[in-house]
Amino acid sequence: MRRVVYTKKGGMDAISIVEEQSPEPKAGEVLLEVHRAGINFADLMMRQGLYSPVPPFPFTPGYEVSGIVRMLGEGVTQLSIGDRVVGLCGIGGYSEKIVVLANRCFPLPDNISFDAAAALPVNYLTAHHMLRYLGNFNSGESILVHHAAGGVGVATGQLAKAFGASQVFGTASASKEEFVRSLGMRFINREKEDFVEVCKNETNGEGVHHALDPVGGKHMMRSYKALCSGGRLYCFGGSAAVKGSKRSMLTAAKMMFTTPKFNPFKMMTSNKSVFGVHMGTWKDEEILRKQMIELGQMLSEGIVEPFVDKVFRFEEVASAQQYIHDRNNRGKVLLDFSPQ
Ligand SMILES: NC(=O)c1ccc[n+]([C@@H]2O[C@H](COP(=O)([O-])OP(=O)(O)OC[C@H]3O[C@@H](n4cnc5c(N)ncnc54)[C@H](OP(=O)(O)O)[C@@H]3O)[C@@H](O)[C@H]2O)c1
Repeated sequence: MRRVVYTKKGGMDAISIVEEQSPEPKAGEVLLEVHRAGINFADLMMRQGLYSPVPPFPFTPGYEVSGIVRMLGEGVTQLSIGDRVVGLCGIGGYSEKIVVLANRCFPLPDNISFDAAAALPVNYLTAHHMLRYLGNFNSGESILVHHAAGGVGVATGQLAKAFGASQVFGTASASKEEFVRSLGMRFINREKEDFVEVCKNETNGEGVHHALDPVGGKHMMRSYKALCSGGRLYCFGGSAAVKGSKRSMLTAAKMMFTTPKFNPFKMMTSNKSVFGVHMGTWKDEEILRKQMIELGQMLSEGIVEPFVDKVFRFEEVASAQQYIHDRNNRGKVLLDFSPQ
């Protein structure tokens, strides 16, 4: 079997494909034949050595896969050989075969494609975790979403609507205006418009109830400023650390040094909250399972619908990641590992 490997920190030259023996599942694990693996922005940052935590190089990235159960480890009774599943693998998903914990695999109904399934876990769990679990999102509340046309952006827009959002503001590059509008969001041109001003002006000067910031640096304080009294800011990324496909330590350092330190006393007097979110280190299995089951139900009922932009064969993984670096993606980009 073949898998993608990051050999070192860097640009596309850090990617290679290796061939090796298929792994065997131990107790409580299953072997999956991977059909689709999701690409996440974090994978790009990992390749550049700008993400934590990651295993030492060389390693195989990939948090999420969909595929077919081919072998069962000892004691696995909840799954059968031949089951179609979506799996949360933590790391290593860019692979033709992968061993995953059985309790992190979820059977797929016949009407859910491998594409939709692989596009669900990271994007929708992250959005669900912020809105539902941390934020207690109530009907009639407003929300600001950055990278609104990206994977988490689309998921957040759909969930906010499902939870009865009054207004969803979405920032993105100009070329994505139509797409963001088609998701029912108030498009904000990230290069030309001041999103704090737009949010304030269009909420009677109050600001939004929820702001999700995956950008970092000074941008995070601006997202905080866009909140109303009682508003909640979710800090969940540092995309401002990335400048194109090559690693730039200067850009990363600038993001780190300009990221705000929030003052609890100012937060008290303005009744604003700040959450830190990292699904990769979120270890509460019981809550995670509940979240996946609720999302699976919403997917089956058509309440959420992952938007898959492009599927690249895994041999084209560098082009797939370049597509995201170039800010071209609308929704999810997947790798195709299905046997041919
Ligand atoms: N903490 C967590 O658990 C967690 C989980 C998932 C994602 N995240 C974070 O959420 C953010 C979005 O992730 P995603 O997987 O949804 O993204 P994605 O689908 O890969 O979307 C990428 C989009 O981000 C925007 N962007 C912003 N800065 C960029 C840069 N320096 N280079 C290239 N594109 C950039 C571009 O859209 P525009 O040009 O239209 O803005 C691009 O199309 C990332 O910061 C990621 O690390 C965090």
